[in-house]
Amino acid sequence: MSAPPSDPVARAFAADGVGRSVRLRGWVQRSRSSGGILFLLVRDRTGTVQVTGKKDVLGPESFDAAEHVQVEGVVEVEGTVADDPRAPGGREVRARAVRVIDPGLPFPIFQEQTEEFRLDKRHLVIRSEEHVATFRIKADLLRALRTFLDEEEVLEVTPPVLTGNPAEGGAEAFQIDYFGRPGYLSQTAQLYLEAMIAPHERVYALTPSFRAEKSRTPRHLTEYQHLEVELAWCDLEQLMEFVERMVVSVCRAVAARRPNELRALGRKPEELTALAAPFPRISYADAIDRLAHQGFGVTWGSDLATAEERALTLESALPLFVTRFPRELKAFYMQRSPNDPRTVEAADLLAPEGYGEMVGASCRETNVELLVERLAALGVKVDDYEWYLDLRRHGNVPHAGFGLGVERILRWMLRREHIRETTPFPRTPSRHTP
Ligand code: 4AD
Ligand code: MG
Repeated sequence: MSAPPSDPVARAFAADGVGRSVRLRGWVQRSRSSGGILFLLVRDRTGTVQVTGKKDVLGPESFDAAEHVQVEGVVEVEGTVADDPRAPGGREVRARAVRVIDPGLPFPIFQEQTEEFRLDKRHLVIRSEEHVATFRIKADLLRALRTFLDEEEVLEVTPPVLTGNPAEGGAEAFQIDYFGRPGYLSQTAQLYLEAMIAPHERVYALTPSFRAEKSRTPRHLTEYQHLEVELAWCDLEQLMEFVERMVVSVCRAVAARRPNELRALGRKPEELTALAAPFPRISYADAIDRLAHQGFGVTWGSDLATAEERALTLESALPLFVTRFPRELKAFYMQRSPNDPRTVEAADLLAPEGYGEMVGASCRETNVELLVERLAALGVKVDDYEWYLDLRRHGNVPHAGFGLGVERILRWMLRREHIRETTPFPRTPSRHTP
Protein backbone atom coordinates (compact mmCIF):
# COMPACT_ATOMS: atom_id res chain seq x y z
CA MET A 1 0.00 0.00 0.00
CA SER A 2 1.59 3.27 -1.02
CA ALA A 3 0.37 6.69 0.03
CA PRO A 4 1.17 10.28 -0.93
CA PRO A 5 3.82 11.92 1.24
CA SER A 6 2.75 13.60 4.45
CA ASP A 7 4.31 16.14 6.81
CA PRO A 8 6.04 15.13 10.02
CA VAL A 9 4.35 16.27 13.24
CA ALA A 10 7.54 18.15 14.13
CA ARG A 11 6.81 20.57 11.26
CA ALA A 12 3.93 21.98 13.30
CA PHE A 13 6.46 23.08 15.93
CA ALA A 14 8.99 24.55 13.50
CA ALA A 15 9.86 28.26 13.76
CA ASP A 16 7.85 29.00 10.62
CA GLY A 17 5.12 26.50 11.54
CA VAL A 18 2.25 28.82 12.45
CA GLY A 19 -0.16 29.43 9.58
CA ARG A 20 1.20 26.54 7.58
CA SER A 21 -1.05 24.01 5.95
CA VAL A 22 -0.02 20.44 6.87
CA ARG A 23 -1.08 16.90 6.16
CA LEU A 24 -0.23 14.58 9.08
CA ARG A 25 -0.53 10.85 9.55
CA GLY A 26 -0.23 9.23 12.91
CA TRP A 27 -1.39 7.14 15.84
CA VAL A 28 -4.02 8.55 18.17
CA GLN A 29 -2.99 8.78 21.81
CA ARG A 30 -6.22 10.33 23.05
CA SER A 31 -9.49 11.32 21.46
CA ARG A 32 -12.44 13.19 22.94
CA SER A 33 -14.98 15.78 21.95
CA SER A 34 -16.70 18.57 23.77
CA GLY A 35 -19.24 21.10 22.55
CA GLY A 36 -18.97 20.08 18.89
CA ILE A 37 -15.17 20.25 18.94
CA LEU A 38 -12.99 17.18 18.44
CA PHE A 39 -9.65 16.84 20.25
CA LEU A 40 -7.08 14.31 19.08
CA LEU A 41 -3.53 13.82 20.29
CA VAL A 42 -1.62 12.43 17.30
CA ARG A 43 1.82 10.81 17.43
CA ASP A 44 4.29 10.05 14.69
CA ARG A 45 8.02 9.29 14.81
CA THR A 46 8.82 13.01 15.18
CA GLY A 47 6.52 13.95 18.04
CA THR A 48 2.98 14.48 19.30
CA VAL A 49 0.58 17.28 18.44
CA GLN A 50 -2.96 18.22 19.37
CA VAL A 51 -5.47 18.28 16.52
CA THR A 52 -8.81 20.08 16.91
CA GLY A 53 -11.74 19.94 14.51
CA LYS A 54 -15.17 21.55 14.45
CA LYS A 55 -18.15 19.41 13.63
CA ASP A 56 -19.45 21.93 11.08
CA VAL A 57 -16.07 21.98 9.31
CA LEU A 58 -15.40 18.24 9.27
CA GLY A 59 -19.00 17.20 8.63
CA PRO A 60 -21.01 15.00 11.03
CA GLU A 61 -19.92 11.64 9.56
CA SER A 62 -16.22 12.31 9.60
CA PHE A 63 -16.49 13.96 13.04
CA ASP A 64 -18.29 10.94 14.43
CA ALA A 65 -15.75 8.48 12.99
CA ALA A 66 -12.79 10.47 14.36
CA GLU A 67 -14.40 10.80 17.78
CA HIS A 68 -14.61 7.01 18.03
CA VAL A 69 -11.04 6.25 17.09
CA GLN A 70 -9.43 4.13 19.81
CA VAL A 71 -6.10 4.71 21.48
CA GLU A 72 -3.46 3.61 18.88
CA GLY A 73 -5.96 3.94 16.03
CA VAL A 74 -4.63 5.81 13.00
CA VAL A 75 -5.79 9.00 11.31
CA GLU A 76 -4.80 11.32 8.50
CA VAL A 77 -5.36 15.01 9.12
CA GLU A 78 -5.31 18.07 6.90
CA GLY A 79 -5.28 21.40 8.63
CA THR A 80 -3.53 24.60 9.58
CA VAL A 81 -1.01 25.11 12.38
CA ALA A 82 -2.00 27.65 15.01
CA ASP A 83 -0.65 28.91 18.31
CA ASP A 84 -2.70 27.79 21.29
CA PRO A 85 -1.39 28.14 24.82
CA ARG A 86 -3.77 25.42 26.07
CA ALA A 87 -2.31 22.78 23.72
CA PRO A 88 0.69 20.62 24.69
CA GLY A 89 3.74 22.41 23.30
CA GLY A 90 1.68 25.56 22.66
CA ARG A 91 0.62 24.64 19.12
CA GLU A 92 -2.24 22.76 17.53
CA VAL A 93 -3.43 21.77 14.09
CA ARG A 94 -6.92 23.03 13.22
CA ALA A 95 -8.32 20.35 10.97
CA ARG A 96 -10.14 20.85 7.68
CA ALA A 97 -10.43 17.10 7.18
CA VAL A 98 -9.84 13.99 9.28
CA ARG A 99 -9.76 10.59 7.63
CA VAL A 100 -9.72 7.44 9.76
CA ILE A 101 -7.16 4.94 8.43
CA ASP A 102 -7.64 2.38 11.22
CA PRO A 103 -10.21 3.00 13.97
CA GLY A 104 -8.48 0.32 16.09
CA LEU A 105 -9.98 -1.94 18.74
CA PRO A 106 -9.87 -0.85 22.40
CA PHE A 107 -6.16 -0.73 23.33
CA PRO A 108 -5.50 -3.33 26.01
CA ILE A 109 -2.55 -1.66 27.74
CA PHE A 110 -2.88 0.30 30.98
CA GLN A 111 -0.33 1.46 33.52
CA GLU A 112 -1.50 -0.68 36.42
CA GLN A 113 -1.32 -4.11 34.72
CA THR A 114 0.95 -6.86 36.02
CA GLU A 115 4.46 -7.18 34.65
CA GLU A 116 3.63 -10.65 33.24
CA PHE A 117 0.68 -9.28 31.30
CA ARG A 118 2.76 -6.43 29.97
CA LEU A 119 5.44 -8.89 28.84
CA ASP A 120 2.77 -10.96 27.06
CA LYS A 121 1.71 -7.78 25.27
CA ARG A 122 5.23 -6.55 24.66
CA HIS A 123 4.50 -6.02 20.95
CA LEU A 124 2.05 -3.27 21.99
CA VAL A 125 3.81 -2.05 25.15
CA ILE A 126 6.90 -0.98 23.13
CA ARG A 127 4.90 2.04 21.92
CA SER A 128 5.16 3.58 25.41
CA GLU A 129 7.12 6.80 25.80
CA GLU A 130 9.62 5.01 27.99
CA HIS A 131 10.36 2.39 25.34
CA VAL A 132 10.43 4.90 22.52
CA ALA A 133 13.09 6.89 24.41
CA THR A 134 15.00 3.73 25.30
CA PHE A 135 15.29 2.38 21.77
CA ARG A 136 16.21 5.74 20.29
CA ILE A 137 19.03 5.95 22.82
CA LYS A 138 20.03 2.38 22.02
CA ALA A 139 20.25 3.21 18.31
CA ASP A 140 22.53 6.14 19.11
CA LEU A 141 24.64 4.01 21.41
CA LEU A 142 25.19 1.53 18.57
CA ARG A 143 25.96 4.36 16.19
CA ALA A 144 28.44 5.86 18.68
CA LEU A 145 30.19 2.50 19.14
CA ARG A 146 30.57 2.09 15.39
CA THR A 147 31.78 5.68 14.95
CA PHE A 148 34.39 5.25 17.68
CA LEU A 149 35.65 1.96 16.26
CA ASP A 150 35.78 3.39 12.77
CA GLU A 151 37.86 6.33 14.03
CA GLU A 152 40.19 3.87 15.79
CA GLU A 153 40.64 2.01 12.47
CA VAL A 154 39.03 -1.18 13.71
CA LEU A 155 37.38 -3.11 10.86
CA GLU A 156 33.82 -4.39 11.19
CA VAL A 157 33.57 -8.08 10.27
CA THR A 158 30.74 -10.62 10.22
CA PRO A 159 31.42 -13.85 12.13
CA PRO A 160 28.89 -16.71 12.12
CA VAL A 161 26.27 -17.18 14.81
CA LEU A 162 25.79 -20.90 14.05
CA THR A 163 28.87 -22.70 15.28
CA GLY A 164 30.35 -26.14 15.79
CA ASN A 165 32.08 -25.45 19.12
CA PRO A 166 30.94 -23.66 22.24
CA ALA A 167 33.52 -21.00 23.06
CA GLU A 168 32.69 -19.77 26.57
CA GLY A 169 31.83 -23.00 28.42
CA GLY A 170 29.69 -25.83 27.07
CA ALA A 171 27.11 -25.87 29.86
CA GLU A 172 25.81 -22.45 28.92
CA ALA A 173 25.56 -23.02 25.17
CA PHE A 174 22.25 -23.55 23.39
CA GLN A 175 22.69 -26.75 21.45
CA ILE A 176 20.84 -27.21 18.18
CA ASP A 177 20.39 -30.04 15.72
CA TYR A 178 22.53 -29.10 12.74
CA PHE A 179 21.38 -31.68 10.18
CA GLY A 180 21.98 -34.52 12.59
CA ARG A 181 25.19 -33.12 14.08
CA PRO A 182 25.47 -30.97 17.21
CA GLY A 183 25.59 -27.25 16.57
CA TYR A 184 25.56 -24.30 18.95
CA LEU A 185 24.26 -20.76 18.98
CA SER A 186 27.26 -18.48 19.40
CA GLN A 187 28.13 -17.32 22.91
CA THR A 188 30.93 -15.13 21.60
CA ALA A 189 32.47 -14.29 18.25
CA GLN A 190 35.89 -14.15 19.83
CA LEU A 191 37.49 -17.23 18.31
CA TYR A 192 36.51 -16.05 14.81
CA LEU A 193 37.72 -12.54 15.54
CA GLU A 194 41.06 -13.98 16.63
CA ALA A 195 41.28 -15.72 13.24
CA MET A 196 40.68 -12.40 11.50
CA ILE A 197 43.45 -10.39 13.16
CA ALA A 198 46.19 -11.96 11.00
CA PRO A 199 44.82 -10.28 7.87
CA HIS A 200 43.27 -7.18 9.52
CA GLU A 201 45.01 -6.68 12.93
CA ARG A 202 42.07 -4.76 14.44
CA VAL A 203 38.55 -6.15 14.03
CA TYR A 204 35.15 -5.92 15.68
CA ALA A 205 31.74 -7.51 15.36
CA LEU A 206 28.29 -6.71 16.68
CA THR A 207 26.31 -9.94 16.85
CA PRO A 208 23.68 -11.53 19.02
CA SER A 209 25.21 -13.85 21.63
CA PHE A 210 23.26 -16.61 23.35
CA ARG A 211 23.65 -17.89 26.90
CA ALA A 212 21.62 -20.83 28.17
CA GLU A 213 21.90 -19.56 31.74
CA LYS A 214 18.92 -20.37 33.90
CA SER A 215 19.88 -17.52 36.20
CA ARG A 216 16.89 -15.24 36.75
CA THR A 217 18.76 -12.09 37.59
CA PRO A 218 18.04 -8.50 36.60
CA ARG A 219 21.13 -8.53 34.36
CA HIS A 220 20.96 -11.79 32.39
CA LEU A 221 19.31 -12.29 29.02
CA THR A 222 19.54 -15.52 27.05
CA GLU A 223 20.04 -13.47 23.87
CA TYR A 224 21.89 -10.16 23.91
CA GLN A 225 23.76 -7.81 21.59
CA HIS A 226 27.47 -8.39 21.92
CA LEU A 227 30.03 -5.87 20.72
CA GLU A 228 33.40 -7.60 20.50
CA VAL A 229 36.81 -6.18 19.62
CA GLU A 230 40.05 -8.05 18.94
CA LEU A 231 43.38 -6.24 18.65
CA ALA A 232 46.77 -7.56 17.56
CA TRP A 233 49.86 -6.29 19.42
CA CYS A 234 47.89 -5.36 22.52
CA ASP A 235 48.60 -5.98 26.20
CA LEU A 236 46.24 -5.68 29.17
CA GLU A 237 47.09 -2.06 29.98
CA GLN A 238 46.59 -0.98 26.36
CA LEU A 239 43.35 -2.94 26.22
CA MET A 240 41.95 -1.25 29.34
CA GLU A 241 42.93 2.15 27.90
CA PHE A 242 41.08 1.28 24.70
CA VAL A 243 37.97 0.19 26.62
CA GLU A 244 37.87 3.32 28.76
CA ARG A 245 38.36 5.60 25.74
CA MET A 246 35.48 3.83 24.07
CA VAL A 247 33.13 4.03 27.06
CA VAL A 248 33.89 7.74 27.60
CA SER A 249 33.38 8.45 23.90
CA VAL A 250 30.03 6.68 23.56
CA CYS A 251 28.65 8.15 26.80
CA ARG A 252 29.44 11.66 25.57
CA ALA A 253 27.98 10.98 22.15
CA VAL A 254 24.73 9.64 23.59
CA ALA A 255 24.47 12.55 26.06
CA ALA A 256 24.92 15.00 23.19
CA ARG A 257 22.36 13.40 20.87
CA ARG A 258 19.65 12.33 23.34
CA PRO A 259 19.62 14.68 26.36
CA ASN A 260 15.82 14.85 26.56
CA GLU A 261 15.30 11.10 26.30
CA LEU A 262 17.97 10.53 28.98
CA ARG A 263 16.32 13.00 31.34
CA ALA A 264 12.92 11.44 30.74
CA LEU A 265 14.37 8.10 31.87
CA GLY A 266 15.99 9.49 35.01
CA ARG A 267 19.58 10.01 33.88
CA LYS A 268 21.12 13.47 33.83
CA PRO A 269 23.11 13.78 30.57
CA GLU A 270 25.79 15.73 32.48
CA GLU A 271 26.55 12.60 34.50
CA LEU A 272 27.47 10.78 31.28
CA THR A 273 29.43 13.75 29.92
CA ALA A 274 31.39 13.95 33.20
CA LEU A 275 32.85 10.47 32.74
CA ALA A 276 36.61 10.71 32.18
CA ALA A 277 39.53 8.31 31.85
CA PRO A 278 41.37 6.77 33.56
CA PHE A 279 38.89 4.55 35.38
CA PRO A 280 40.11 3.15 38.71
CA ARG A 281 41.58 -0.35 38.68
CA ILE A 282 41.68 -2.93 41.46
CA SER A 283 43.21 -6.39 41.35
CA TYR A 284 40.96 -9.35 42.03
CA ALA A 285 43.10 -10.12 45.12
CA ASP A 286 42.56 -6.60 46.53
CA ALA A 287 38.86 -6.72 45.66
CA ILE A 288 38.52 -9.94 47.68
CA ASP A 289 40.30 -8.29 50.63
CA ARG A 290 38.08 -5.26 50.45
CA LEU A 291 34.92 -7.37 50.26
CA ALA A 292 36.02 -9.63 53.13
CA HIS A 293 36.53 -6.48 55.25
CA GLN A 294 32.99 -5.42 54.36
CA GLY A 295 31.73 -8.73 55.73
CA PHE A 296 31.30 -10.76 52.54
CA GLY A 297 32.15 -14.43 52.94
CA VAL A 298 34.66 -14.48 50.10
CA THR A 299 38.18 -15.88 49.90
CA TRP A 300 40.75 -16.11 47.09
CA GLY A 301 39.10 -18.23 44.41
CA SER A 302 35.53 -17.07 45.04
CA ASP A 303 33.62 -15.82 42.02
CA LEU A 304 32.31 -12.27 42.23
CA ALA A 305 28.54 -12.66 42.16
CA THR A 306 25.97 -9.91 41.69
CA ALA A 307 26.07 -8.78 45.33
CA GLU A 308 29.88 -8.54 45.42
CA GLU A 309 30.09 -6.66 42.12
CA ARG A 310 27.41 -4.32 43.36
CA ALA A 311 29.26 -3.57 46.58
CA LEU A 312 32.46 -2.70 44.69
CA THR A 313 30.95 0.24 42.76
CA LEU A 314 27.81 1.18 44.66
CA GLU A 315 29.25 4.50 45.84
CA SER A 316 31.17 5.22 42.67
CA ALA A 317 30.35 7.46 39.70
CA LEU A 318 33.12 5.94 37.56
CA PRO A 319 33.35 2.39 36.22
CA LEU A 320 35.91 0.10 37.88
CA PHE A 321 38.30 -2.42 36.31
CA VAL A 322 38.82 -5.61 38.30
CA THR A 323 41.99 -7.29 37.02
CA ARG A 324 43.89 -10.59 37.16
CA PHE A 325 41.39 -13.21 38.23
CA PRO A 326 42.21 -16.76 39.30
CA ARG A 327 42.65 -18.90 36.19
CA GLU A 328 39.94 -21.37 37.30
CA LEU A 329 37.26 -18.67 37.22
CA LYS A 330 37.91 -17.67 33.64
CA ALA A 331 37.75 -19.03 30.10
CA PHE A 332 40.34 -21.40 28.61
CA TYR A 333 41.76 -18.89 26.12
CA MET A 334 42.97 -16.32 28.66
CA GLN A 335 46.69 -15.74 29.01
CA ARG A 336 48.46 -16.61 32.23
CA SER A 337 49.89 -13.61 34.03
CA PRO A 338 53.66 -13.47 33.46
CA ASN A 339 54.36 -12.89 37.19
CA ASP A 340 51.75 -15.17 38.71
CA PRO A 341 50.79 -18.53 37.22
CA ARG A 342 47.63 -18.59 39.36
CA THR A 343 46.03 -15.62 37.58
CA VAL A 344 45.13 -14.61 34.04
CA GLU A 345 45.61 -11.32 32.18
CA ALA A 346 41.98 -10.36 32.30
CA ALA A 347 39.91 -7.35 33.34
CA ASP A 348 36.19 -7.00 33.92
CA LEU A 349 34.78 -3.51 33.74
CA LEU A 350 32.07 -2.96 36.35
CA ALA A 351 29.51 -0.23 35.74
CA PRO A 352 29.19 2.60 38.29
CA GLU A 353 26.43 2.75 40.91
CA GLY A 354 26.44 -1.00 41.52
CA TYR A 355 25.20 -2.11 38.10
CA GLY A 356 27.85 -4.81 37.68
CA GLU A 357 29.95 -6.23 34.82
CA MET A 358 29.53 -4.62 31.42
CA VAL A 359 32.79 -5.58 29.70
CA GLY A 360 34.89 -8.77 29.86
CA ALA A 361 38.43 -8.28 28.51
CA SER A 362 41.58 -10.37 28.31
CA CYS A 363 44.89 -11.10 26.65
CA ARG A 364 44.75 -14.36 24.75
CA GLU A 365 47.00 -17.32 25.47
CA THR A 366 49.51 -17.68 22.63
CA ASN A 367 51.14 -20.90 23.86
CA VAL A 368 49.49 -23.79 22.04
CA GLU A 369 50.51 -26.41 24.67
CA LEU A 370 48.90 -24.41 27.45
CA LEU A 371 45.72 -24.07 25.38
CA VAL A 372 45.58 -27.82 24.76
CA GLU A 373 46.15 -28.45 28.48
CA ARG A 374 43.31 -26.12 29.46
CA LEU A 375 40.90 -27.62 26.94
CA ALA A 376 41.75 -31.16 28.04
CA ALA A 377 41.27 -30.18 31.70
CA LEU A 378 37.79 -28.92 30.80
CA GLY A 379 37.00 -32.32 29.33
CA VAL A 380 36.22 -31.02 25.84
CA LYS A 381 37.22 -32.71 22.58
CA VAL A 382 40.45 -30.95 21.69
CA ASP A 383 39.97 -32.06 18.07
CA ASP A 384 36.99 -29.75 17.75
CA TYR A 385 39.28 -26.80 18.45
CA GLU A 386 42.02 -27.79 15.96
CA TRP A 387 41.15 -24.90 13.72
CA TYR A 388 41.57 -22.47 16.62
CA LEU A 389 44.87 -24.05 17.66
CA ASP A 390 46.07 -23.62 14.05
CA LEU A 391 46.01 -19.88 14.64
CA ARG A 392 48.85 -20.36 17.15
CA ARG A 393 50.89 -22.26 14.53
CA HIS A 394 50.70 -19.76 11.69
CA GLY A 395 51.50 -16.15 12.43
CA ASN A 396 50.94 -16.22 16.18
CA VAL A 397 51.20 -12.74 17.74
CA PRO A 398 50.34 -11.23 21.13
CA HIS A 399 46.74 -10.07 21.03
CA ALA A 400 43.84 -9.16 23.27
CA GLY A 401 40.18 -8.29 23.07
CA PHE A 402 36.95 -7.77 24.88
CA GLY A 403 33.21 -8.15 24.72
CA LEU A 404 30.76 -5.46 25.78
CA GLY A 405 27.16 -6.33 26.59
CA VAL A 406 25.16 -3.60 24.86
CA GLU A 407 22.13 -4.10 27.12
CA ARG A 408 24.37 -4.17 30.19
CA ILE A 409 25.88 -0.74 29.52
CA LEU A 410 22.47 0.61 28.52
CA ARG A 411 20.92 -0.69 31.73
CA TRP A 412 23.40 1.36 33.70
CA MET A 413 23.11 4.44 31.46
CA LEU A 414 19.34 4.42 31.81
CA ARG A 415 19.28 3.23 35.43
CA ARG A 416 16.85 0.42 34.58
CA GLU A 417 16.02 -1.99 37.34
CA HIS A 418 15.87 -4.95 34.92
CA ILE A 419 17.93 -5.58 31.79
CA ARG A 420 14.81 -6.64 29.87
CA GLU A 421 13.81 -2.96 29.68
CA THR A 422 16.79 -2.35 27.39
CA THR A 423 15.69 -4.73 24.64
CA PRO A 424 12.37 -4.68 22.75
CA PHE A 425 11.64 -8.40 22.87
CA PRO A 426 13.55 -9.81 25.86
CA ARG A 427 14.68 -13.42 25.88
CA THR A 428 14.90 -14.88 29.38
CA PRO A 429 14.73 -18.46 30.74
CA SER A 430 10.97 -18.18 31.12
CA ARG A 431 10.14 -16.39 27.87
CA HIS A 432 10.89 -16.47 24.16
CA THR A 433 7.65 -14.95 22.84
CA PRO A 434 6.38 -12.58 21.59
O1 4AD B 1 32.41 -11.90 29.93
P1 4AD B 1 31.89 -12.60 28.71
O2 4AD B 1 31.32 -13.95 28.86
O3 4AD B 1 33.12 -12.62 27.69
C1 4AD B 1 33.12 -13.18 26.46
O4 4AD B 1 32.19 -13.74 25.92
C2 4AD B 1 34.39 -12.93 25.69
N1 4AD B 1 34.63 -14.03 24.78
C3 4AD B 1 34.27 -11.61 24.97
C4 4AD B 1 35.51 -11.28 24.20
O5 4AD B 1 36.57 -11.12 24.79
N2 4AD B 1 35.40 -11.16 22.90
O6 4AD B 1 30.81 -11.68 28.01
C5 4AD B 1 31.14 -10.36 27.61
C6 4AD B 1 30.09 -9.39 28.05
C7 4AD B 1 29.90 -9.31 29.56
O7 4AD B 1 30.83 -8.44 30.14
C8 4AD B 1 28.49 -8.77 29.68
O8 4AD B 1 28.49 -7.37 29.49
C9 4AD B 1 27.81 -9.41 28.48
O9 4AD B 1 28.82 -9.81 27.57
N3 4AD B 1 27.01 -10.58 28.89
C10 4AD B 1 25.68 -10.60 29.00
N4 4AD B 1 24.76 -9.64 28.79
C11 4AD B 1 23.45 -9.97 28.98
N5 4AD B 1 23.04 -11.19 29.37
C12 4AD B 1 23.93 -12.18 29.59
N6 4AD B 1 23.50 -13.40 29.96
C13 4AD B 1 25.33 -11.90 29.40
N7 4AD B 1 26.45 -12.64 29.52
C14 4AD B 1 27.46 -11.80 29.20
MG1 MG C 1 32.54 -12.05 31.96
